[in-house]
Amino acid sequence: MKNIPRNYQEYQDIYKFSIEQPELFWQEIADDFKWQKKWDKVLDWNFNDPSVKWFTGAKLNITENCLDRHLADKGNQAAIIWEPNNPKEIHRTLTYKELYQKVCQFCHVLKNNGVNKGDRVCIYMPMVPELVIAILACARIGAVHSVIFGGFSSQSIADRIQDAGATHIITADGGYRGAKEIPLKFVIDDALVQCDTIKKVIVLNRTSTPVSMIKDRDVWWEEEVQKIEALGNPDFLAEQMDAEDLLFILYTSGSTGKPKGVVHTCGGYMVYTAYTFKNVMQYNFGEKFFCTADIGWITGHSYIIYGPLANGAISMMYEGVPNFPDAGRMWDIIDKYKIDILYTAPTAIRSLMAAGDKFLVGKDLSSLKKLGSVGEPINEEAWNWYNEKIGKGKCPIVDTWWQTETGGMMMSPIAGVTPAKPGYAMFPLPGIQPILVDEKGSEITGNSVSGNLCIKFPWPGMLRTTYGDHERCRLTYFSTYHNLYFTGDGCLRDADGYYRITGRVDDVLNVSGHRIGTAEVENAINRHTGVVESAIVGYPHEIKGQGIYAYVICHTPPIDSELMRQDILQTVSRIIGAVAKPDKVQFVSGLPKTRSGKIMRRILRKIAEGDITNLGDTSTLLDPTIVEEILKNHL
Ligand code: WTA
Repeated sequence: MKNIPRNYQEYQDIYKFSIEQPELFWQEIADDFKWQKKWDKVLDWNFNDPSVKWFTGAKLNITENCLDRHLADKGNQAAIIWEPNNPKEIHRTLTYKELYQKVCQFCHVLKNNGVNKGDRVCIYMPMVPELVIAILACARIGAVHSVIFGGFSSQSIADRIQDAGATHIITADGGYRGAKEIPLKFVIDDALVQCDTIKKVIVLNRTSTPVSMIKDRDVWWEEEVQKIEALGNPDFLAEQMDAEDLLFILYTSGSTGKPKGVVHTCGGYMVYTAYTFKNVMQYNFGEKFFCTADIGWITGHSYIIYGPLANGAISMMYEGVPNFPDAGRMWDIIDKYKIDILYTAPTAIRSLMAAGDKFLVGKDLSSLKKLGSVGEPINEEAWNWYNEKIGKGKCPIVDTWWQTETGGMMMSPIAGVTPAKPGYAMFPLPGIQPILVDEKGSEITGNSVSGNLCIKFPWPGMLRTTYGDHERCRLTYFSTYHNLYFTGDGCLRDADGYYRITGRVDDVLNVSGHRIGTAEVENAINRHTGVVESAIVGYPHEIKGQGIYAYVICHTPPIDSELMRQDILQTVSRIIGAVAKPDKVQFVSGLPKTRSGKIMRRILRKIAEGDITNLGDTSTLLDPTIVEEILKNHL
């Protein structure tokens, strides 16, 4: 692949080239892929509509790039190595050839069950190789996949199915995560009570838990596959897709109550994830890459599946959680498979660090060459521990900043090529043009400055729209500042010109690396009959990065506040999912509001953070005494 720097000077040269001649820069990278027809034009864009099109007129299928083109020279090399939740269960390896065959097989299954190009298929599965097969089979027949994280409730699933107008679901009877068994099919059945667009549900047997199968709607994965095997497993010709056809929808939280379906398209997303993977990780053939994310989030899409597979890499996939059966599990996996590159989240690092170094005793870890971090700001202590205890001081660490909307990494050190500093995303990757702006949208130039982070030029992996509501995409990302993509993040550029992401500046929390909208949680709590109103803010949490603090007004003060708290947590679990449960619930008789009725979140945030020294002028509040009450009872 072209435009991969091997030293700092080369990075600077390539970066300069990518800014001066972006179209040529991306074209040189795109030339390396298998296109059924090449593009007429590299880029067409304006940030007003917004309308962004990459490689217009080009035809391709991303799975030909992830599978077919590796068959000749890497057919027998591992594509996916899968480690089960239970360390005693046997692991599985799928070579490129096997993965290709299984994807073709499942394409036939999808076709037999009425899935067509352009249909939306909702995937709610455990972290097993069949999840990768299901995703790639959708991409190969041109259906749009929408993966939903296993921690979301049936209500959340129903909302997403309806928003996407999905016609099919692929799920499993259940899934294993640590000591827990998740009843996936049961949750789906609940969700489907409210959804009438669904024609078929394909169910994989993972846990052999009894489930109810609905006549004419539900079919078993294994039985459907057997029908294809009986035909001698024919290949499946990849559907020809336009570069700008939809590849997938992934729902993510924003500042409003309703999650939005971020849309990625085939051509640009492929080029972008493949390039950033190869470049940032400085991936060499044969290296084993272990990304610990769940495929229900963007990191799993881009860096377990598409980026690595497009490069013919070996991608490690783990079904369970980092601390099961104990906090040494990740290190065992690394030693068992001799992993070369580990890409994980600060939350995982912090929780394994907190478990104590005794879990590192007897672990070798000498296979590791490079380390990565993603999803939230990493604190210096965790960075240093990661560096010393895991990387043994010899592995470069890449702190990669990016978002669901950006498709792939945007700012990051390049492993062993550009400098790194704890907690810093350092520099924009080639092709990325960051800009800091003040509240009014004026550019903040120079160093030792902070501002809101925007991007001023398109990149191939960026979102194209929010599904079914283009105006929402425009309003959320392109209307705050004229002609700029607004990330929602605050950012510092230090004296040396290094970038450091300081966190969200909107009402989005980042809890254990999961994006949670405060409005979503408030809406859920407010649906409890006993609740009048609520306000959610984040506060620093040692392990999770941010915790969720809920201020709740009840109709009458709860007689048993512990019971009411449990009840509220249940409500949030039911409506959104366990991921959004508040860590702290404080019952209050009112909220600090301005005379126009706006909740003063700044004050609530300060109290939640335990910083009560400078609450600012509270005299303009509708009822200043409420602040005293909240302060007195704060948790
Ligand atoms: C935050 C995850 C600091 C940021 C890939 C962003 C980070 C949000 C980093 C996107 C990082 C992600 N340093 N903050 N290295 N990476 N973030 O959509 O606030 O789940 O806007 O994508 O996570 O979260 P998302």
